Amino acid sequence: MPTPPPRLRTPALVVTAVVGLAVVVTALLLGQVVSALLAVLLTGVLALLLLVPGRVVTPLARRVREERSQAGLATARELAADRVEVLERLTGLESTAREAHDAAARAAAAAERLEPLLADVRDRLSAGAEALSLIREQGQGAVDAPALRQELGFAVRAVGVDTWSLQRLAHRLGPDVPLLAPGRARGWVATAETVLALVEDVLARPAGTSVVECGSGTSTCWLAAAAQRSGAHVVALEHSPQYAAQTRAELERAGLGGWATVVDAPLSAIGLVGHETPWYSRALDVLPGRIDVLFVDGPPGGTGPSARHPAFPVLERRLSSGASVVLDDTDRTEELRLVERWVEGSAGRLVVTGRTDRATLMTYGTAPYAGPAAGA
Ligand SMILES: C[S@@+](CC[C@H](N)C(=O)[O-])C[C@H]1O[C@@H](n2cnc3c(N)ncnc32)[C@H](O)[C@@H]1O
Repeated sequence: MPTPPPRLRTPALVVTAVVGLAVVVTALLLGQVVSALLAVLLTGVLALLLLVPGRVVTPLARRVREERSQAGLATARELAADRVEVLERLTGLESTAREAHDAAARAAAAAERLEPLLADVRDRLSAGAEALSLIREQGQGAVDAPALRQELGFAVRAVGVDTWSLQRLAHRLGPDVPLLAPGRARGWVATAETVLALVEDVLARPAGTSVVECGSGTSTCWLAAAAQRSGAHVVALEHSPQYAAQTRAELERAGLGGWATVVDAPLSAIGLVGHETPWYSRALDVLPGRIDVLFVDGPPGGTGPSARHPAFPVLERRLSSGASVVLDDTDRTEELRLVERWVEGSAGRLVVTGRTDRATLMTYGTAPYAGPAAGA
């Protein structure tokens, strides 16, 4: 029997009692004693059924309800905790996705900058492939196969050195340096290995380091990027107004205009005995009085014999002790002779300390102690 709600229980009891009483009285009046007793029993059972749920079932139901609501509360708490965790994970995922997106953008920019190098690699590989098919077509005897093999070996090694140096440059300066790749792709540009040596040198020096470059271009930008990180400053001498403007524009484009000054330096007689080739003579006044790193990559050879010779004799008195002097293109006989001339003329103050694939690295003013001076 369904239990009536508490507010209906009392009227139900009253109705049961009245009906029961009426049935008992009627039965007695009719002389039906057994029926009267049955009616009393039935009424009692009905009354019990109405009373017992109110006293026993209701508290039980209340306890069940309480327990259910507590369990519901605990479940709700667990759900809320789960939701917070899910939210945290989603936030983490979002920042990971953002980082991945930024990394992809940086990789795309780096790939764009490496394009000239890759073009160079492609050119070399297709030249190599052409050479190989030539050998196959004409037979080994028709071409100088050992010389060709040696050339191909040089080319493959050069690509390896360029790639490694560019990776080091990206590591030292950050992959975001918005600069053109140095290297052999365009013959007039210092190679990546030389640029790396210069960049490492500038980065290792204290703030305030003074860098001077003869002959501006892509190297000026890389030097400026290193100067930005170490607090150095670069002054580049440029005889060609067109290339001076080009280098300045490239510096601005890369946001490095504040770290390098490109000086218009028309070539004119320098007045060195036995040296007729013009040099950046008119720009001497704007050069710093102290030079810690000197990179000599100009004027171009076409301007006259030993075009770069004046750099050391003219600027020697400005070189600080321990200054670096780097002469590019010493894979050519003319520049290699210049190294010898400079070292011989320096009375031991200029020493060769290393080489890259195309340049010679020298240090000024750190010659070993040569004993007491004559007459001391
Ligand atoms: C050997 S380059 C100097 C290059 C620079 N130091 C570099 O590594 O990027 C010597 C001279 O060539 C000239 N030059 C610059 N850019 C050039 C280009 N794209 N083609 C031909 N000559 C260029 C400039 O007058 C420069 O002073």
